[in-house]
Amino acid sequence: MNQLVGKQVLVTGAGNGIGRDLSVAFAKTGARICVTDINDDAPAETVEIIKTNGGEAISESLDVTDPENVREVRDRLLESFGPLDILINNAGILRAGGFETVSLEDHLEVFEVNALGPMVLTHAFLTDLISRRESYVVNIVDAAAIIGLPKASSYAASKSAMLSLGDCLRAELYDAGHRHVRVLSVCPGIVNTDMFHGAIAPKMTEVLDRRKLAKQVVDSVRRGSVALPKIGGQ
Ligand SMILES: NC(=O)c1ccc[n+]([C@@H]2O[C@H](COP(=O)([O-])OP(=O)(O)OC[C@H]3O[C@@H](n4cnc5c(N)ncnc54)[C@H](O)[C@@H]3O)[C@@H](O)[C@H]2O)c1
Repeated sequence: MNQLVGKQVLVTGAGNGIGRDLSVAFAKTGARICVTDINDDAPAETVEIIKTNGGEAISESLDVTDPENVREVRDRLLESFGPLDILINNAGILRAGGFETVSLEDHLEVFEVNALGPMVLTHAFLTDLISRRESYVVNIVDAAAIIGLPKASSYAASKSAMLSLGDCLRAELYDAGHRHVRVLSVCPGIVNTDMFHGAIAPKMTEVLDRRKLAKQVVDSVRRGSVALPKIGGQ
């Protein structure tokens, strides 16, 4: 998707952290952003930043675990913006601690937001995405989906579910001839937001800068291929 000018992008959990930077980075390309978050005031702050930079954005209060809320936002968006081109499933939560010390309610909430949320959003928007000439589902997963993360078991497991959903969807779309709908699963290590505040990056890795990550995601969508880490200064 070389040209992002005028593309409609919806970002979940965009009132803060990586979601905010993704919204700002996509807006800089000329895309129109629907900034959403469960936290009512936060998306408006992101919209303000985008508008100050000369970009175009609207805000919606959206809880990814509430299918009715998601359907309402989808219908409003369709009427005002038109069909979506890029869905970014970014909203996520972490409840850290030993498996037994974290309450069952907290484990279940993590799954609801991180694993079921992207399912609800993708289900609501897939028909619109298929109707476009070129479109994207971008899932902000986590390296924990692949390597696990002790003391964050439900978080890592929910991210594995998200990764698997993306893999299945990509294969299904390809098989059904909808090769114009791409699915990108982003699996970063630790990023400098509030979520893993104070965490030390594992050996041989570094804490990623959220703005650089957002730019890499934009570049990957533009090129239609992923950015690989540079090894040995190459
Ligand atoms: N920070 C990291 O180190 C890191 C690493 C890899 C992946 N990720 C993933 O990146 C994504 C963004 O994380 P972040 O670090 O920016 O966290 P963050 O806590 O700064 O932002 C998360 C946002 O999601 C919103 N949110 C929470 N529950 C929601 C719900 N039910 N519906 C809608 N919005 C909701 C919050 O209000 C918040 O604005 C998450 O999915 C996270 O798992 C983060």
